[in-house]
Amino acid sequence: MAGYLITDTKKITSTCFIEMKQRGEKISMLTAYDYTTAGIIDQAGVDGILVGDSASNVMAGNSDTLPITIDEMIYHARSVAKAVKRALVICDMPFGSYQISREEGIKNAIRIMKETGVDALKIEGGAEIADTIKGIIHAGIPVMGHLGLTPQSIHKFGGYGLRAKTESEAKKLMDDALCLEQVGCFGITLEKVPAQLATQVTQGVNCATIGIGAGNGTDGQILVYADMLGLTHEFKPKFLRQYAHLYDTITEAVGHYIADVKSTDFPNAQESY
Ligand code: KIV
Repeated sequence: MAGYLITDTKKITSTCFIEMKQRGEKISMLTAYDYTTAGIIDQAGVDGILVGDSASNVMAGNSDTLPITIDEMIYHARSVAKAVKRALVICDMPFGSYQISREEGIKNAIRIMKETGVDALKIEGGAEIADTIKGIIHAGIPVMGHLGLTPQSIHKFGGYGLRAKTESEAKKLMDDALCLEQVGCFGITLEKVPAQLATQVTQGVNCATIGIGAGNGTDGQILVYADMLGLTHEFKPKFLRQYAHLYDTITEAVGHYIADVKSTDFPNAQESY
């Protein structure tokens, strides 16, 4: 079986991400939102698991990430944290939980850490949110930033297209990355930005960059697990590589089950008490 052999089962911390960057070891990340999936992904050897607010789309069927609440994120993050032994578990702070004030952001960050058992938080935005991030890090909580396509601001941007295409947008993104590094972020997610810019940012900061639709020059990669496993079969952006086709596998298995029930083949004598 092709795969990644885990030889080191020691828990990965946020500082490990920076050490991996320093020694040139690429960082693998996936999302997860529930106990069972997180347990499988962790034992397969992924370095980081993000309890993304993409749970709003993948788990709750919303068309964007805005509706998911702190309580719902806590439910998902607690389930994931219980399953994970090795990977660094990062939880997204949802829309509305850190934008109102620095104090409220710090309070909500502490609540998520207390009630979930995750290792770190991820927060969207650059310089405009840096003071809040600084306060959260001062409270002892590792923070990963998120620049480029920031889905919580989708109504401001008006779409899910490539970000930082112009020189001035690229400069702002670089300045934001430097600002996030300065306030102490251990990592920055770079979503849907030109590969060349993501490489420049990666070379310009000491914290670890994790790309999604940002080319091959970042320190690591992240995908939404349901997309890379082919559960969400209609979502096929250019940056996505599908490693399985579980939509088809599940449809076929359910079809067999239905046929077996209808034909009275299931349950048979061995499957009965
Ligand atoms: O919520 C999420 O899944 C994310 C990733 C796409 C990086 O933020």
